[in-house]
Amino acid sequence: MLYRVLYVLLLARLDAERVHRLAARAVIATDRVRPLRRLLRTLLAPRDPALRVRALGRDFPSPLGLAAGFDKDAAGFEAYASLGFGFVEVGTITAEGQPGNPRPRILRLTRERALVNRMGFPNAGAAAAAQRLRGRAPAGPVVGVNVGRTRTALNAEADYQASVRMLAPHADYLVLNVSSPNTPGLRDMQAVDRLAALIAAVREALAAPLPLLVKIAPDLSDEDLDAIADLALRERLDGLIATNTTIDRDCLHDPCAPDVAAEGGISGAPLKPRALAVLRRLHARTDGRLTLIAVGGIETADDAWERIRAGATLVQAYTGFVYGGPLWPRRINRGLARRVRAAGLSGVREAVGADAPAASPGGVRAGSSQAG
Ligand SMILES: Cc1cc2nc3c(=O)[nH]c(=O)nc-3n(C[C@H](O)[C@H](O)[C@H](O)COP(=O)(O)O)c2cc1C
Repeated sequence: MLYRVLYVLLLARLDAERVHRLAARAVIATDRVRPLRRLLRTLLAPRDPALRVRALGRDFPSPLGLAAGFDKDAAGFEAYASLGFGFVEVGTITAEGQPGNPRPRILRLTRERALVNRMGFPNAGAAAAAQRLRGRAPAGPVVGVNVGRTRTALNAEADYQASVRMLAPHADYLVLNVSSPNTPGLRDMQAVDRLAALIAAVREALAAPLPLLVKIAPDLSDEDLDAIADLALRERLDGLIATNTTIDRDCLHDPCAPDVAAEGGISGAPLKPRALAVLRRLHARTDGRLTLIAVGGIETADDAWERIRAGATLVQAYTGFVYGGPLWPRRINRGLARRVRAAGLSGVREAVGADAPAASPGGVRAGSSQAG
């Protein structure tokens, strides 16, 4: 309530990226003061055993994670975990540092509960992020590292390889982002032959085994989704993240509103139906053999619960957190734990895929189950 008043009176009037930066600094500074960190964790961190999930070879205290893009430079993952996120995906990180697109590059569509993002991967580069991640406490939060292509890179595979060599030793899982609409040509890497080549190149750069996932766009056709799901099984990927932002404007109530025509990907509430449909299709096609991470328009515990029951082992959010404020992760965690108990289950893991229809007959039956 307090956050809502603050949002309407002040935050909504300032440049969205500036607000993000100020809020991030405040959370990180608070978390650096030990007694305050203890207090935050006591009040907000998930401790309910019903929320615990084992996935990707790690123990997650909650299935709710902070989506990529919020902690681009791995500067605050511990602080976001203190707010109640069960894991944090840092990045997108590129091999070389780069400034990203000119500002403004995050726009709010408040009535739609959405954002338009055209940041273009501003970040300090893989070496700087590796330096930050190197100091991670062993008992700290689960951290996924999301890597993307440097805008000026001539050889995309070599560029991802360079990032992977620097960052993989410090990651709990690795995500290949091939779905941002803001780096020219990036989404073309979702074509199965290019994706297979990228996965092979990244595997070559990995010095030790590490869970490997690919983050995909919501704008792929159903046939392309099936092709990627089949490829993921064939290549024994550990999982898929669905979805990134959409370039489709028809999902908005008012596709002609100011700012809507601006370039960039739409996140938040308008993305919800498509992100859910993509998840359902991937789950049906892969028959529960991949770890699916659902993201896109998750605003409430019901949304998170619906994704889990549709086949997501883990869920993530960005825009729901921006509009919901610092207590939002706790609300979702509590709501999820209540739903687990109301369903008569002992843990959220038991609900994964509970609502999913049977697998499609065309799905590839390869690869071992990674969902556990
Ligand atoms: C401002 C902004 C920046 C983002 N940056 C990234 C990014 O760097 N890498 C990435 O994989 N996804 C990025 N995303 C996409 C989110 O991780 C997420 O997939 C998408 O916003 C849908 O989730 P949501 O509706 O909960 O926001 C960004 C989204 C927003 C709104």
